[in-house]
Amino acid sequence: MPTTWQGQFISAAEPSEAGDPAPYFRREVEVGTGLRRATLHITALGIVEAYVNGTRVGDEVLAPGWTSYNHRLHVCTHDVTALLTAGTNALGAVVAEGWAVGELTWDLKRHVYADRPALFCQLELEYEDGRTEVVSSDSTFRVGTGPVRTAGIYHGETYDARLESGWAEPGFDDSGWAEATPYEWDLATLTDTGTDPIRRIEELPVVAITTSSTGTNIVDFGQNLSGWVRLTVTGEAGQTVTLRFAEILKPDGDLERETNRTAQATDTYILRDGEQTWEPGFTFHGFRYVEVEGWPGELDPAALTAVVTHSDMTRTGWFETSNPLLNQLHANTVWSMRDNFVGVPTDCPQRDERLGWTGDLNAFAPTASYLYDVRAVLGSWLADLAVEQQASGSVPWVVPDVLGHASAPTGLWSDVAVSLPWALYSEYGDLEILRRAYPSMVAFIRQVEGDLDETGLWADGFQFGDWLDPDAPAGNPSNGKTNPNLMGAAYLCRTTRELADTAALLGETTDAEHFGALADTVREAFRREWVTASGRLANESATAYALAIVFGILDPDQLAKAGDRLAFLVREAKHRISTGFAGTPLVTDALTLTGHLDDAYRLLLQTECPSFLYPVTMGATTIWERWDSVMPDGTVNATGMTSLNHYALGAVADWMHRVVGGLQRVEPGWSRIRIAPQPGGDLSSAKSSHDTVLGRAESAWSLSGRELTVTAVIPDGASAEVVLPQHPDGLVVEVGPGEHSWSYEIPEPEVPSEFTMDTKLGEIAKVSELWVAVAAVLHSHYPQIPLDDAGAHVAGMSLNELVSRIPMANPRLADELRETLAGFAPQV
Ligand code: BGC
Repeated sequence: MPTTWQGQFISAAEPSEAGDPAPYFRREVEVGTGLRRATLHITALGIVEAYVNGTRVGDEVLAPGWTSYNHRLHVCTHDVTALLTAGTNALGAVVAEGWAVGELTWDLKRHVYADRPALFCQLELEYEDGRTEVVSSDSTFRVGTGPVRTAGIYHGETYDARLESGWAEPGFDDSGWAEATPYEWDLATLTDTGTDPIRRIEELPVVAITTSSTGTNIVDFGQNLSGWVRLTVTGEAGQTVTLRFAEILKPDGDLERETNRTAQATDTYILRDGEQTWEPGFTFHGFRYVEVEGWPGELDPAALTAVVTHSDMTRTGWFETSNPLLNQLHANTVWSMRDNFVGVPTDCPQRDERLGWTGDLNAFAPTASYLYDVRAVLGSWLADLAVEQQASGSVPWVVPDVLGHASAPTGLWSDVAVSLPWALYSEYGDLEILRRAYPSMVAFIRQVEGDLDETGLWADGFQFGDWLDPDAPAGNPSNGKTNPNLMGAAYLCRTTRELADTAALLGETTDAEHFGALADTVREAFRREWVTASGRLANESATAYALAIVFGILDPDQLAKAGDRLAFLVREAKHRISTGFAGTPLVTDALTLTGHLDDAYRLLLQTECPSFLYPVTMGATTIWERWDSVMPDGTVNATGMTSLNHYALGAVADWMHRVVGGLQRVEPGWSRIRIAPQPGGDLSSAKSSHDTVLGRAESAWSLSGRELTVTAVIPDGASAEVVLPQHPDGLVVEVGPGEHSWSYEIPEPEVPSEFTMDTKLGEIAKVSELWVAVAAVLHSHYPQIPLDDAGAHVAGMSLNELVSRIPMANPRLADELRETLAGFAPQV
């Protein structure tokens, strides 16, 4: 990257209006003989495609991606030596509105960064004899228009192939074009952000074509994805093909565009004569289905290809089990990550948002850093967060910040400033990540510190809360069962501790002491406000318990009570999901930590709505924004928050990798590993594989009859503790690098083979499915019977004893209980 820039941004003379054609820029360049190397640095306010002598430069798409442009505008660098020849050459670029100029947010705000598309480029020529020449964007460039008639991120692209002209080749007559106008922009913003470029990553063929009620073709690519469609068509000049994109179909088979909200997501292609191939380059869509209108003749499936585009990251994590639904849930998580890492980690790729919502990423970061190497994309994103936080005093709710108002500090959302660097440090073991983020981490906690009450409680102020709790009112997703202030204060317990640990690692001893004391204070304040002495929470919800258990807020002697209450709530909800963005990533962990693995598996494997697997049973190929984005009758939930491609709730995959597969990081950077799979549910095998910074690490198990085989792969430079599950001698082994394997018979389960009216309630309560059924019978007759503490004072009582204590018990009760017990087959 050069240290000085010689040119300036250039544009058309007027600000751009919605629907304007994209400006095309060109000039000719004389190249002498003996060229050794030619380098093109190029960026834009907008999205840019560069051409040299009519050839498209490089393989990046949607360049320069989206950053906080007024602080950091990425410059792409290409070696173009092979594209130039001695003599006259043409340098050209198309710049469409993109994120800098076009519509952003549900308010469809225009001109957020600039009032027109503008180009910056610098071509550096180095000759064999040491001579150098520089050609930069300035008023020697001409500006005109071409086939790209209009292009926007949300609304799509219109391309008129009749206007193709050879504009990017030498000799083109640009006398009808205007002189480019200088555009004021601070060149100090130009930088190499180090992020991974956005590229075409994969192509998917058509899997089915159906006919809509109006007779148009509806094309199914079988996968909800982010990108666009390439078409090859033969026809006559002026014929128009329209492609309308959607994630889902209505029950009657027509396109359902509700989940796009106001994004028009429509590409229009106007043909020239003959056979032609086209794909857009200045928009992208989140879609599985495309309605095709105006196709000349019969639509051949081979004429259309879905092009999957996203940041070109290296895949590092895999997971597989014997359960196909679970495998699909995991595949959906991977797809939602891919579809939402388009330069910026976004909430969704299809509707009028596609914004870098901080809370979504905070929930998902541990999963993301297992699945892909995210250092480059999230490193750049954190740099944006830090500069914007410095400018406004707050961590924006979306990064890059385009909301246009101050973002109050909030748990899970704003505290990504602390937890993301911590998550990345934990994954990659690189202290530089923490060192770079440290001022931002400190600034966030200091800001919240100023908002605490006299006890140290974060008691008021806006919080998103347990966003999209399925029981929250449709119009108010923050207002679920968990008090939003409880949620904010719990997350603060985690972030203050992470910051104190960070300060200690960086040798900031005064800070370490200060934030360590603050972490103690906010934990104590939380406990005083929300936790009873025995470990019950004043606001009982699965999320509240999960936060208190996982964030270390409870004392060890309170964990059993809290875990039992959590298990009770999970059972009471019939192992359907009762949590939103804040709680969902933690509930399975909280159950596991408190000895309720069986309930964690039942929660994971439930298929009734709302549940982790319900969307899978409805054919989902990505993670939905809410548990019931699509209702059981196939209609889209009417709340408007119904994206079918939001990664946040896929955060459960992190638990699947660590607990189901059993691959756990103990030390930052994987130098110390724990292999501790916990088989459960109906699974007979599972495997987690991860390319750590030290190399491949793997944990796998499989069960055949009662023989369990566990295998572990440990990379060079790491050591591991292997906790062999259900081993008859409780074996724990220490291993070094290499591949290891163990096989052994697991003991028969302790579950009684038969349940009768004389079985103790405590025994019945250990089998959550049976307990749910028994509790349902009891409650249908006597809703007032408190059954939440079968682990405590009624644990020693049998059903016979319980029934005998109910004065004038309904005679049907004992019969129904007996039938329930008889109908239960214990799982072995
Ligand atoms: C986004 C979310 C985000 C939320 C916060 C939504 O519109 O899609 O995922 O976190 O707003 O308000």
